[in-house]
Amino acid sequence: MRDVSRMRWLTRLIVLLWAIALPQPGFAADTTGGAHEQAQRQITQPANNAPFWRDVRRGENTYQTTQVRGLETNVLIQTEGQTWRLLRPPVYSVGGFIVMLALLGIFGYYLWRGSIKLHEPPTGKLIRRFSDLDRFAHWTVAISFVTLAITGVMMTFGKYLLLPVFGYTLFSWLAIFAKNLHNFVAPVFLLALPLLILVFIRDNGLKRYDVEWLKTFGGMLSKTGTEVPSGRFNAGEKAVFWVMVCILSVVLCISGVVMLFANFEQGRLTMQSANIVHVVAALLAIAMAIFHIYLGTIGMKGAYKAMRTGYVDETWAREHHEIWYEEVKAGTARQQFAENVPPRIRMQVEQSVDQGISEATPREQ
Ligand code: HEM
Repeated sequence: MRDVSRMRWLTRLIVLLWAIALPQPGFAADTTGGAHEQAQRQITQPANNAPFWRDVRRGENTYQTTQVRGLETNVLIQTEGQTWRLLRPPVYSVGGFIVMLALLGIFGYYLWRGSIKLHEPPTGKLIRRFSDLDRFAHWTVAISFVTLAITGVMMTFGKYLLLPVFGYTLFSWLAIFAKNLHNFVAPVFLLALPLLILVFIRDNGLKRYDVEWLKTFGGMLSKTGTEVPSGRFNAGEKAVFWVMVCILSVVLCISGVVMLFANFEQGRLTMQSANIVHVVAALLAIAMAIFHIYLGTIGMKGAYKAMRTGYVDETWAREHHEIWYEEVKAGTARQQFAENVPPRIRMQVEQSVDQGISEATPREQ
């Protein structure tokens, strides 16, 4: 009986020693690769932990385990984050340069050409160019876009432009305000953008006469030239519609949603990629918007009042969108001559073009 129990005890001891002597799963990794290199490094250069951190950055699981359940919770250092951090300054610089170039270009164009004015006096016959829905969609997108652009630029370039001027305390408040305003205005833009696309897509189809317009940029690059005939919107406006509205703004919305709603299991790399795409699309869209806003305000007499009130004078329509004007006259356009325009609005429209009559008539040019 005693022999049997002694044998059992001996067997257990042998099994235990055998188990200890067998290499453990983690043990193999510990004696090779980064861990081995790290051990060596401690002999040659004590306190130099570069091999250890290289392993961590590589995402080697040897060191990175956690009980916390969730996406990437076992990633101590996310390597792509470093690439993202390094990528941002050059992207900002190139984007900022493009925006500055657009501003300078517009400024130079204004000095050279001035406001585009009418050649003939207004006739007093008004056309309803934009419906209430057109204007609602336009101004909701325009106001939200401008707010997003200003707050976005504050976040992107604030560290370089505002911080040195305002100091840490004020800049911190401004940056927090900009970020929150940006986050809350974004959904307005997101909802209004499809409506804008829907109401304007019909008249932004490319036509043969748009090619003629593009060849000379509609005559806008000649100081005295008359405009190339166009439909309700000219090829320049169509480019704005397709590139700035349908491509860049849609990309902005998608990449913005990826960053805004971080609760959909998207990892850090997805968010970092979305951030770069968002900044690139935003800066390109802002550069295009600068041209659009210039021509919609001081660049062309009567344009702003058209979008503000919905009406244009017959002369404005004939000189800037001749083909569309002929369609309105023939009754084939959806827009029509307007009756019973409130006197206040009539006055605003007439004044906006009256002040803008060019000294030279088309015949003199
Ligand atoms: C303060 C900012 C803005 C001003 C002053 C402005 C002004 C104008 C004006 C005056 C027009 C009418 C042009 C015409 O009668 O032919 C217009 C048209 C239009 N705008 Fe704006 N705009 C602004 C911002 C924006 C933004 C941010 C977007 C889009 C992201 C936008 C998209 C459009 C579209 C789609 C049209 C119709 C022309 C087309 O379809 O190409 N606008 N805008």
